[in-house]
Amino acid sequence: MTIRPIRKAVFPVAGLGTRFLPATKAMPKEMLPVNDRPLIQHVVEEAKEAGIEEFIFITGRHKELLEEHFDEHPELQSTLKARGKDSVLKKIEDLIMPAGALFLTRQPKPLGLGHAIWCASKLVGNEPFAVILPDVLVKTAKGEGCLKQMVDVYNETGGNLIAVEDVPREEVNKYGIVSPGAIRGKAIEVKGLVEKPEPEDAPSEMSVIGRYILQPEVFDHLSAFEKGAGGEIQLTDALDKLIKTQLFNAMRFNGKTHDSGSRLGFIQANMAYGLDDPEIGARVEQLILEYADQIKGQHNVAAAE
Ligand code: UTP
Repeated sequence: MTIRPIRKAVFPVAGLGTRFLPATKAMPKEMLPVNDRPLIQHVVEEAKEAGIEEFIFITGRHKELLEEHFDEHPELQSTLKARGKDSVLKKIEDLIMPAGALFLTRQPKPLGLGHAIWCASKLVGNEPFAVILPDVLVKTAKGEGCLKQMVDVYNETGGNLIAVEDVPREEVNKYGIVSPGAIRGKAIEVKGLVEKPEPEDAPSEMSVIGRYILQPEVFDHLSAFEKGAGGEIQLTDALDKLIKTQLFNAMRFNGKTHDSGSRLGFIQANMAYGLDDPEIGARVEQLILEYADQIKGQHNVAAAE
């Protein structure tokens, strides 16, 4: 079996971001910043670290800022240069996409994640590819991004591979859950996927986090445009069909997810990434401790009354 390399990654960014309104009315959810960079930059960097060469954005109306973010900004760059702000200039230059690396296509209506991925079919062509959901950040050790960990496993196993994280049983009804089979090293055979099962019906506690390596045959299933949960064309439904015909594994990874498309997850992500920042980390820690003391003080006053 030849294992074909993963060169392309698809980033679905056409959703409406309803959980974060009104912030996301005019601004794409994927441009919300966690620490000093927007969500989309975090995940593009994760993809670069995994060796991705072609970046495919599935965009929609009001999403133009996303492509601007990765383009040249001559006035800004020359001003930073003239002012000797070399370290910031380097950060800007590093994020500019080289010619021929960024591809954009539009999803005319947000008909669901499965439909968004289908929109990439012509750009992906007949080769395996990665899918990264930009609102899920995975915080890992430097140089060991989630997709890189996946590519390392995929290069041994081939087939389809999804990243999973264990969640408390009472929360399985918020996620896609894996029905697991045999364990082969780091890879766990996937026998089925269940979207948002009730805790008593869930086949495991392994939740699908939003990082996928898929074979191009997934497009055959997506092109049926079948509507699933919530009336949307779901990626999970197409994957469930793919499982029946192809090698399909899951893997746990080293790292922690932050659902930054939800308000609470976003605040938590900002604390986690801020704490780790060499420039402001110590001050962020001090701030969090000050808030904790204030809150404890308020609780003590309330308890005494
Ligand atoms: P989400 O369901 O988290 O995004 O989809 P959403 O629909 O924008 O957010 P809420 O739930 O209303 O707050 C995960 C990713 O898939 C993209 C979204 O932009 C997001 O990055 N997506 C979702 C699409 O590109 N098209 C769709 O039809 C649906």
